[in-house]
Amino acid sequence: MTKPHILQMGPYPEWDQVPLDAAFTVHRYFEAADKPALLAAVGKDIRGIATRGELGASADIIAALPNLEVISVYGVGYDAVDLNACRARGIRVSNTPDVLTKDVADLGVAMMLALSRGMIGAETWVRDGSWAQKGLYPLKSRVWGKKAGVLGLGRIGFEVAKRLQGFDLDIAYCNPTPKDSAPGHWRYVANPVSLAAEVDFLFVTLAASAATRHIVGKEVIAALGPEGMLINVSRASNIDEDALLTALETKALGSAALDVFEGEPKLNPRFLALDNVLLQPHHASGTVETRKAMGQLLRDNLTAHFAGRNLLTPVL
Ligand code: 8YV
Repeated sequence: MTKPHILQMGPYPEWDQVPLDAAFTVHRYFEAADKPALLAAVGKDIRGIATRGELGASADIIAALPNLEVISVYGVGYDAVDLNACRARGIRVSNTPDVLTKDVADLGVAMMLALSRGMIGAETWVRDGSWAQKGLYPLKSRVWGKKAGVLGLGRIGFEVAKRLQGFDLDIAYCNPTPKDSAPGHWRYVANPVSLAAEVDFLFVTLAASAATRHIVGKEVIAALGPEGMLINVSRASNIDEDALLTALETKALGSAALDVFEGEPKLNPRFLALDNVLLQPHHASGTVETRKAMGQLLRDNLTAHFAGRNLLTPVL
């Protein structure tokens, strides 16, 4: 039987690449020196795309593949896939929800703790001899007993809140509607500005879309204020990055712990000049266990589609 041709948008670990290559005829878009030439040569053969959350599939790519049937995303976020183009052509889309939820929540909470307690600077303090030469490390700010806000109480937001509860934080959340699954002592706040105004830590855990673009804008940032910390493990587009940088530079916002950036992996150099940020390389789902589960689910969705079955985790 001939193997379906798929276009691969970005690299995967060896443990995913080997079975992917075994099951499909894989064309590596990301390795092609002349990408338009690759699309011109094999575009008509391609029936599936294997992509990554941050890479997605643009309208241009989709248009270059006239026989495309399915796009399988390695990631829960599918904001980089042009869903309108997919809907117009009946192209199916899948993602990898659930398998990464707890790792993303873990990293979000770890970022809050690490930045609040100055752990990165403290490590340097030990390694560069400051401890022996200068003495005690500067005192940092307590976490427990403070207020945390979760913007977007979906799967990841819920796990973040659950963890924060374990650290004795008071929890409030903002969501389009109150969640029945949320314990009664998690306060529902109807809008992001009010949420930011009443918390010390604001976690952004929203699925990104055109509707949520810059939902954390000037007003939310100002409401969080000089003592507040913003933590983002969702997508950069949920935050007005320019407003964020200005607020951090002027100390109108206390601090920010960020796993995602506009234009990543290149980030705005203004971030690098700041001492009130914790910068992470978009690795909230980056554990061996979770990435293996994501790779398996990516392939299982493609396999199901080409066997004429329903997608396991459909977006469209
Ligand atoms: C991944 C992600 O880092 O799930 C997502 O939406 O952004 C992350 O889990 C990414 O998709 C891996 O390419």
